[in-house]
Amino acid sequence: MHHMAQSQQQNYKMSKSPIRVLISGAAGQIGYALIPLVAGGQVFGLDQPVILHLLDIEPMKQVLQGVVMEVDDGAYPLVHGVVATSDYQQAFNNVQAAFLVGGFPRKAGMERKDLLEKNRPIFVDAGQALEKYADRNVKVLVVANPANTNCLVAAAHAPSIPKKNFSAMTRLDSNRAQSQVAQKLGVAPVKVKNVLVWGNHSVTQVPDVSYATFESADSKQLPVAGSVDEAWVFGTFQPTVQKRGAAVISARGLSSAMSAANAAKDHMRDWFLGTPAGEYVSMSVVSDGSAYGVGKDIVYSFPCVCKGGEYEIVKDLAVSDKIKELLKKTEQELVEERSEALPGFSGL
Ligand code: LMR
Repeated sequence: MHHMAQSQQQNYKMSKSPIRVLISGAAGQIGYALIPLVAGGQVFGLDQPVILHLLDIEPMKQVLQGVVMEVDDGAYPLVHGVVATSDYQQAFNNVQAAFLVGGFPRKAGMERKDLLEKNRPIFVDAGQALEKYADRNVKVLVVANPANTNCLVAAAHAPSIPKKNFSAMTRLDSNRAQSQVAQKLGVAPVKVKNVLVWGNHSVTQVPDVSYATFESADSKQLPVAGSVDEAWVFGTFQPTVQKRGAAVISARGLSSAMSAANAAKDHMRDWFLGTPAGEYVSMSVVSDGSAYGVGKDIVYSFPCVCKGGEYEIVKDLAVSDKIKELLKKTEQELVEERSEALPGFSGL
């Protein structure tokens, strides 16, 4: 990808041994958009072969078989095997990356946390299966809603997998936020950096332009905050990003899939391969109580940098009082979700 003049084919280098990558909900809408990104090398790199573990529930068996046919028919150079199953042992066996996408999606009129009761058991099972079968170093990305609390439920049921290996997706929100800022400024999204999303993947999430910069037409790096006013940030930008998932559901009649898969790709790629110098990404990770006054043992979206396959929370950003207040609210919601999902919770 760094050598645009070369063909993609020439960039494949098969020196690494394959990694096992689980995608749950593989026969669903997001799975259909995510599988080609993983198979095509956009997540783990063009030198990293993969064995796809495609999990879906028994009633989706036939559809999943069709998806496997399509993977086969892609003759992807990086795909060294496909395991398609509804069996958790087979699905989770030795996986080094897990995209946990499978779950009931929200319908018009619901909030994401309305899915907690329905999807919680799926994440109890996933946590237990990770504990029993997955590689100890597995990197887990929870996509199914409510993503942050589902992730906590999985982590709570996989005590021997390090907490730092669990994450939930707020990259879709931060991609949305980046794009909204770009449109407002009349530049391409690629020109905008470090738009953040804090907290929960829900309406209480906190999209934040405080540290964002953009490249102007004359190639200057400028602070976004100097070019947009507060009324737009708090009155238009934030609610647009917070409610974007619902807007897509009402337009499509289905929840976002292409953009969700794209964000899952971005999240996992940056975690495995690293973030560019000077760039932050928004990742929902297990709070250890050491950053921004957020209590421990909730899965909270923080600005992160990634290097050598590990993320680190960027802890030294100055937060305005107005944003601080919002950070508390979204934290409070996550604490409430936790008491619903894990009654009697006493710590990870
Ligand atoms: C999204 O943000 O698009 C997804 O979380 C789906 C939803 O329910 O909003």
